[in-house]
Order: sequence, then structure tokens, then C-alpha cells
Amino acid sequence: MKDSSRSSPPPTLPFFPSLRRYLPSATVILLLFSLGYIAGLLSSPSSPSSVNPQLQSHIRDSNCSFSPPHDLFRFHTDCAKPIPHDRVLPTLLNRLFNNTSPYSDFPSPETATLLLPPAAHPRGWGSTKPVFSDLISTIRPLTIIELGTFLGASALHMASLTRNLSLPNSLIICLDDFRGWPAFRSRFGRHVPIPHHADSLLLHQFMLGVSAAGETHRILPVPFSTSSGLAALCEWGIYGDLIEVDAGHDFHSAWSDINMAYAVLRPGGVLFGHDYYTAADDHGVRRAVTLFSRAKGLKVRPHGEHWVLSPKPVDSVPV
Ligand SMILES: *[C@@H]1O[C@H](CO)[C@@H](O)[C@H](O)[C@H]1NC(C)=O
Ligand SMILES: *[C@@H]1O[C@H](CO)[C@@H](O)[C@H](O)[C@H]1NC(C)=O
Ligand SMILES: *[C@@H]1O[C@H](CO)[C@@H](O)[C@H](O)[C@H]1NC(C)=O
Repeated sequence: MKDSSRSSPPPTLPFFPSLRRYLPSATVILLLFSLGYIAGLLSSPSSPSSVNPQLQSHIRDSNCSFSPPHDLFRFHTDCAKPIPHDRVLPTLLNRLFNNTSPYSDFPSPETATLLLPPAAHPRGWGSTKPVFSDLISTIRPLTIIELGTFLGASALHMASLTRNLSLPNSLIICLDDFRGWPAFRSRFGRHVPIPHHADSLLLHQFMLGVSAAGETHRILPVPFSTSSGLAALCEWGIYGDLIEVDAGHDFHSAWSDINMAYAVLRPGGVLFGHDYYTAADDHGVRRAVTLFSRAKGLKVRPHGEHWVLSPKPVDSVPV
């Protein structure tokens, strides 16, 4: 694996030919030495004694090889035995919301005044692309897990699709911290409420949309980070037949989401995601998908803006 952060060339080299025309060679040599020395100082640990010698020799001896087993590939994937489908929603309500639907008595009068009217089509990105109908009609999922929900555009689309495919009880579990990302309002401000006491109100705006669509009995928010939410699903034996990954678009977020989501994907189920082509983080999503598919021996099928992995082998029975 290429580690671009470590393989950048010494800073002095590209400037050498152009400098040489203007400076006497002795000055150039002195300059190169000084720059090299400064670069060395910057890259060396501030205090040699603070570095664990065992770790240093491990890094040296292992040649910085990233072949497994390595922490990059180490995720907690020994999940609990799957619980029956009809226990999934009650378990989540019990564990997360004191056995009460988060939609009961929602919205309170105080919250209602802070929200925008529910949109017929909430702001989303690629949320109604054909990949959703293709996968839902072939897999006919009972449990769908979505990572990255924002205002719920794709969750509501999947609800509509499952309803039309005679799957009115499919459960759609939405993992998102419902905070968007820093400064998203500068571009999408007119689609979201004004923040209130530092709360972005995305969760409540999403819930209002779900209520308006009459889907509160089966679209459930899990309002935590995707990694803590997935770890909980793994611990509680909650698996998805179809899992959509559309949360953080940097390599490390996508890598973590994909690995942990695969752990709670039912054998025979399908993992797919958005933004296969996004340039963010030097194509971080695609790098994560490619690395994962190679590590697991899966095929990646691009589908419009999305990526789809070949189904999880049925012999990979959860522990
Ligand atoms: C380090 O990498 C070089 C070149 O790829 C290889 O020849 C060598 O055997 C490796 N050493 C170890 C300790 O893996
Ligand atoms: C949980 O709900 C019950 C009612 O079902 C209520 O009596 C109790 O106070 C609630 N507990 C907490 C911690 O909110
Ligand atoms: C489901 O069917 C209804 C009624 O025919 C239609 O209006 C709606 O667009 C369909 N949903 C999807 C996602 O195709």
C-alpha cells in the first residue's frame, strides 16, 4: 500500500536546477545542508527517549509493511448471534429510548416552532438513483441499515420502494450523529433549520420528514457516531440484509464504516455506498472500498455514483 504522507521527496530537490543558475555552488551546498538539517529536525521525534524502542524496531523490522495482521485491519467483528427480525425494533427501542418510540409526542410545541415545514423531497445527494430500486427489488431486505442519513432523503426513498414491493414492514435503521459537518450551512442553509443552542436540529428536521411520510413505525434514527452505533448493533446481534454506507467521505471514516458495517451484514446480504467517484481525501471512499474488496476477495461493481460489493458469502456465518 502506498503511504503518500511518508513518500514525499526531500523538499530541496525540485528547486535545485533553477537555484543553480543564480547562486554560487558553495552557497547551494550550504543551503541544501541547512534545509536537510531542518527537515531532519522536523521529522525526528522531539525527545528520543519518548519513543518506545520496541515500537521503533518493530516499525524498522516490519519494513512498514501493511499486510495483516495489523491495526489497520483490526476491528471488533465477533458480533453476537443474530436476533430474530421481529425483535430488532423492540431491542433498539429498549436499548436506546427507554422502550418509547422517539416519535411519541413529537414534535413538542417548542421544537415545532424551530423546524422548517417538512419537504416532500428533502435535500439529499443521489438519494433516488436506480441502485436503490435495483438492490431492494433483488434482495427484498427486511432490515436495512443506513450510515449517513442527513435529512432522510434516501431513507424515505427506500421506505417508498419497500412499500411498493410489498415489504411494508422492512425496518430502516439510520445511523448518523445528525450534525452534518462543520459549516455545511454555508451551502445548504436553506434546507435546514437555524441552529438552536448549538444544536443543528437535523435530527428533529429528519424526524419531522419521517412523520409527514407516515413511516415512524419503521424508520428509526440511531443518533450516534457511525462507529459507536455499529459497535452497538454488533453487540446486540442486529444485522442488516442491505447496508448503505454514505457517511464520512475521507479514507479513514469510510474504511472504518465499511469494516464495521460488513461485520453486521447478514451472510448473503449486500453492502453498497455512495460517492465512489468523489475526489474528497484523494478519492478516500474509493481507496477504502478497493482495499476492503481486495482484503476480503470481493468484487466491486460501480453503479452510477455508487459502489456495490458482491454479496457476503453465505458460509461466513456470524460467530
Ligand atoms: C523490506 O522490503 C524490501 C524491498 O521490498 C525486501 O527486499 C525486504 O526483504 C523487506 N524486509 C523485511 C524485513 O520485510
Ligand atoms: C422509562 O419509561 C418509564 C415508563 O415506561 C418511566 O416510568 C421511567 O421513568 C423511564 N425511565 C427513564 C430513565 O426515563
Ligand atoms: C411507489 O408507488 C407510488 C404509487 O404508485 C408512487 O407514487 C411512488 O413514486 C412509488 N415509489 C417509488 C420510490 O417508486
